[in-house]
Amino acid sequence: MTRDHVDLLPLNTLRVPAMAEHFAEVTMASQLPGLLAHARANHWPLTVLGEGSNVVLGDFLPGLVLAIRSKGITVLDDGDTHVRIQVAAGENWHMFVRWCLQRGYFGLENLALIPGSVGAAPIQNIGAYGVEVGRFVESVQCRLLPSGEQRELNREDCAFGYRDSVFKRELSDVALIVSVIFVLPKIPRPVTTYPSLANYLEAHEIAGPTAQQVFDAVVDIRSNRLPDPEALPNVGSFFKNPVLGEEQFQGLLERFPAMPHYEDPAGHKLPAAWLIEQCGFKQRGGAVRVHAEHALVIINPEQRPAREISALAREITDEVRARFGILLEPEPRRYGIFEQ
Ligand code: FAD
Ligand code: EPU
Repeated sequence: MTRDHVDLLPLNTLRVPAMAEHFAEVTMASQLPGLLAHARANHWPLTVLGEGSNVVLGDFLPGLVLAIRSKGITVLDDGDTHVRIQVAAGENWHMFVRWCLQRGYFGLENLALIPGSVGAAPIQNIGAYGVEVGRFVESVQCRLLPSGEQRELNREDCAFGYRDSVFKRELSDVALIVSVIFVLPKIPRPVTTYPSLANYLEAHEIAGPTAQQVFDAVVDIRSNRLPDPEALPNVGSFFKNPVLGEEQFQGLLERFPAMPHYEDPAGHKLPAAWLIEQCGFKQRGGAVRVHAEHALVIINPEQRPAREISALAREITDEVRARFGILLEPEPRRYGIFEQ
């Protein structure tokens, strides 16, 4: 069943005012063939939303917005060393992480407290504190839009990269994810190399942490560093961290010897937060502004429209490019019509 002219402000964590021309909540995957046929018959373009924590919505979204709310967690195989679990796209990511930990299914503890749905997790290959979800994904079950044709992709097909996958490239806005099958180890192997996590564990004198201790540490670090969207609307990191080639990196390091950096398989990764902070954005006021605790997070406490978010994002991009010669790439995806 679809509804007309639905207010999407409560359904995006940046709290920008946005209106869906038509809207439906998908609570069961079996609703999809009917909804997609209805959209095709009416020539409605489609937009898929999870929990709206990584999107910037324009004032008006023409066509049909599908909010994925389907639930269900099924253990497919419970082996001695690994478990295979199929999870419906509309399950909440953090709840699923907790569910796994409670049952002794490990690996996802570093990804605690990432907002959003399970179905969105493969889209940008969510990652935090040294772990990316892609390594635990066995396959992704999809419906192709607008036809509704069913398609299953294995991990290789997903082409996971840093904040990247086939769902942001060839299948961008074409594959609606219905469920994800994860394979998780039952033997814990905590990953504690990420600098702020390692420092936290050391400061709290936790050597050889359990998965639960890693989970607790990640929750504590995140709660202190990243604003809760309920209190200060945001979409997490607004830009990806840039990855530079050797020549550009060495040139910058000569000019800015204190520049923090990490080694990445693709090159030298720089924290975009540092680049933005160096340009002085933390000191600037404004209704839409960067968060005082983390320069990579744009906050929107007054629920201003998307054009004001875009204006600040453009200012940041321009100043970082002028000062460092680096073009920052936005992380959240944009949907709908942005009024000037
Ligand atoms: P939405 O914002 O609703 O959608 C995001 C994209 O996925 C859109 O393109 C949408 O069309 C698509 N999509 C959603 N569901 C489906 C589906 N079922 N099928 C097909 N496409 C779909 N991300 C990280 O990687 N690491 C972090 O540490 C992190 N921290 C964050 C902290 C905060 C405070 C916030 C607000 C965000 C953070 N994020 C982080 C970003 C965000 O949590 C993730 O991108 C999350 O996966 C988005 O889930 P969602 O359900 O809200 O997706
Ligand atoms: N920094 C600053 N100023 C700040 C904040 C950070 O200079 O205001 C510098 C510091 O040098 C710090 C470094 O940036 O050491 C890294 O900061 P942090 O550990 O917070 O990580 P990040 O690179 O800013 C990335 C992800 C986050 C993820 C964390 C933890 C991206 C774009 N962001 O942030 O993901 O939670 O690492 O792994 O890769 C998201 O995608 O929405 C997100 C929050």
